[in-house]
Amino acid sequence: MNDAPEPVRPVDANVTDHHTPGKHAWPPLRLFVNIDHVATLRQARRGLEPDPVEAALRCERAGADGITAHLREDRRHIQDTDIERLTTSIATQLNFECAATEEMLAIAERIRPVEVTLVPERREEVTTEGGLAVRRNVTLLADAVTRLKRAGVRSSLFIDPDPDAITCAAEIGADAIELHTGTYAHHPDAPGPLEALRHGTALGRSLGLAVHAGHGLTVRNVGPVAAIDGIEELNIGHSIVSRAVFIGLDEAVREIRTVMASARARTS
Ligand code: PXP
Repeated sequence: MNDAPEPVRPVDANVTDHHTPGKHAWPPLRLFVNIDHVATLRQARRGLEPDPVEAALRCERAGADGITAHLREDRRHIQDTDIERLTTSIATQLNFECAATEEMLAIAERIRPVEVTLVPERREEVTTEGGLAVRRNVTLLADAVTRLKRAGVRSSLFIDPDPDAITCAAEIGADAIELHTGTYAHHPDAPGPLEALRHGTALGRSLGLAVHAGHGLTVRNVGPVAAIDGIEELNIGHSIVSRAVFIGLDEAVREIRTVMASARARTS
């Protein structure tokens, strides 16, 4: 992606917004389980086990509101066939995570998941390390958001809780933002990162964006994020799959859901 900032180009005004708030009877705080790490384990042997689609179905039965899967350009974990199978198998919603490339947008237009979360992607990174540089890539992202809207797919931009990135996401017509919680997860006791998430949520909501959050969340640190009024969805993967090694996937989903629900209940 380029370094030079680009002027904001508003989203195509003739495009119908297919996101209808209230269409889905979603709870106030949804848990989407990211199943990439199940696929990582499978790819360690390039075999069939464990199957991320079976994991997705178990997560749903244990109370997940949706499933997130990131199809990376290098196909290091989730494969194209996993995405196809998820589309036809799961009973909840698929949040298809991908980079804003021609290849991925074409897949999204074909499978039409309920939601696409656009993320930055670098081949050398271990995981998604930072949020999108929205202002610097405004044309690319505005085009992606417009294409997704035309396909009837909600768009979410994975960004740091940075006021300019949030404002720019609203300007280009994204339906949602997912706030990167990685800095908070590394410094859960420092007031700054949590405050940034609170302010980012309030700003996003004031601009009409749905606000999601995720990255590095665990049973130990999820409470204060779940308690932020205005966040509608958490995307959690690594810690759930890690806990599953010891207590099973169903219990790992139930465990984090319980912590999320009690943190949210304390604020309402
Ligand atoms: N949200 C996004 C956009 C991500 O890229 C990831 C990591 O795959 C997550 C959430 C989940 O992060 P974690 O696996 O640390 O829970």
